[in-house]
Amino acid sequence: MVLAKRATLFEESVIRGMTRLCQQHQAINLAQGFPDWDPPREVLEAAKKAIDSGYNQYAITWGAPNFRQAIARKMKNVNGIECDPEEEITVTCGATEAMMAAMLAVIDPGDEVVVFEPFYENYGPDVIISGARPVYVPLRFPDFRFDPEELRAAFSPRTKAIVLNTPNNPTGKVFTHEELSTIVGLCQEFDALTITDEIYEHILYGGRRHISIATLPGMRDRTITICGHSKSYSMTGWRLAYAVAAPAITAGIRKIHDFLTVGAAAPLQEAAAVALELPASYYTDLVALYDGKRRLLLDILRGAGFEAYDPEAAYYIMTDFSAFGFADDTEFAHYLVKEIGVAAVPGTSFFHHQELGRTKIRFNFAKHDDVLREAGRRLGRLRRP
Ligand SMILES: Cc1ncc(COP(=O)(O)O)c(C=O)c1O
Repeated sequence: MVLAKRATLFEESVIRGMTRLCQQHQAINLAQGFPDWDPPREVLEAAKKAIDSGYNQYAITWGAPNFRQAIARKMKNVNGIECDPEEEITVTCGATEAMMAAMLAVIDPGDEVVVFEPFYENYGPDVIISGARPVYVPLRFPDFRFDPEELRAAFSPRTKAIVLNTPNNPTGKVFTHEELSTIVGLCQEFDALTITDEIYEHILYGGRRHISIATLPGMRDRTITICGHSKSYSMTGWRLAYAVAAPAITAGIRKIHDFLTVGAAAPLQEAAAVALELPASYYTDLVALYDGKRRLLLDILRGAGFEAYDPEAAYYIMTDFSAFGFADDTEFAHYLVKEIGVAAVPGTSFFHHQELGRTKIRFNFAKHDDVLREAGRRLGRLRRP
C-alpha cells in the first residue's frame, strides 16, 4: 500500500467534487460556497499597492504586524474579545488551515472530539488527521437544535474539544446564548476546549446576533476562535483567516502553522487589514444583499417543490427533495447537474450518520440575482411523480 493509513480514512471533498462536475456539464454552480463577484474595490486597490510597494517576501510567520493589530481591534469591537496581537493571534491560509493547525496543536491521538452534524465537511477529516475520534451529535431538523442530554452523552473523560460552527454551515443556524451556555458547562465539567469556526459572523438575518463563545464566563482560555475573510469580504481565493487563543495555545498553533505553510500571502495581508477598517455601512449592505438573495432562492426552491429550511445566517439553504421521488441524495444531485443544469451539494456529505442526509441537498445563494433566476427557471422543470 503506497498511501498512509490516514489518507485512506476519509474521502475527497464532495463539495469541491460537485464544482468539478458542474464545470464539466456547464451547469450553474449553487454547490460550492463562493460569491460570483469581487471583493470591495478599495481592498483590491490596497492589494495592488502592496505588491507595488515591496510586500512580496515572507511576512512574519504568524501574520503581518499591521494585520494582527487590525484583527485585535476587530476582535474587540465585533466579537467582544480583547486579545494581544503579539501573543494571541495567528494568521493562517484560510479558516481551513486555522482549523487544521488548531486541532494539530491541541489534539492527541486517542482523544475524542465532539462534532455537531450536519457539519462543514472539513471537520471530520481534520479530526481524523489529528489522530482523534470524532463523536457526532445531531442538530435536528427543522430548527437544528441539539438535545442537551445527547450532547452530554457525547462527552467523556477522553473529550479534548468540541467543534462549534456558529453561524452554521450548512444549516444557517445561529447558536443561542442558552445553547452556548450548555456547551460551556460541559467544557468546564469535562475540561475540554471549544474550537469555534465563526467565518459567517457578519452574515445574519432578521436582526439575529452572533455570540462568540469565548466571551462567556470561563471560556476565554478554553476557546480557539477562528474567523476569516473569505465570506465577509468575498475573497475565498485569497486564503486569509486567523485563530485567536490564549498565549500558550497560540504558541502551539503558531508552531504547527509555521511548518505547514510558513505564512499567508504577504501583500494580501496588507490589503486584508484595510478590509477590517471598512465602515459599518459595508456590513449593513452585505447583509441586505444576502438577505435579498435568501428570499429569492427560498421562493424559487419552495416554488419548485422543495421543502426549504429558512436560514438564520450564512448563504446556504438546506432542503429536502423527497417530493421528487428520488431516494438518494447523490443520485439526485447528479441528476440535477446533468439533466437540469444546476449543481448543489448532496446532504450526506454533511453527515456522519448518512441516513440523516439521504433526502437532503444544500443550495448556495452567493450568486448574482440573474444567475439565481436562471437556476429557478431550470429547477422549474423538475417534476413530482
Ligand atoms: C463553516 C466554514 N468554515 C470554513 C470554510 C472555509 O474557509 P476558508 O476559505 O477561510 O478556508 C468554509 C467554506 O465554505 C465554511 O463554510
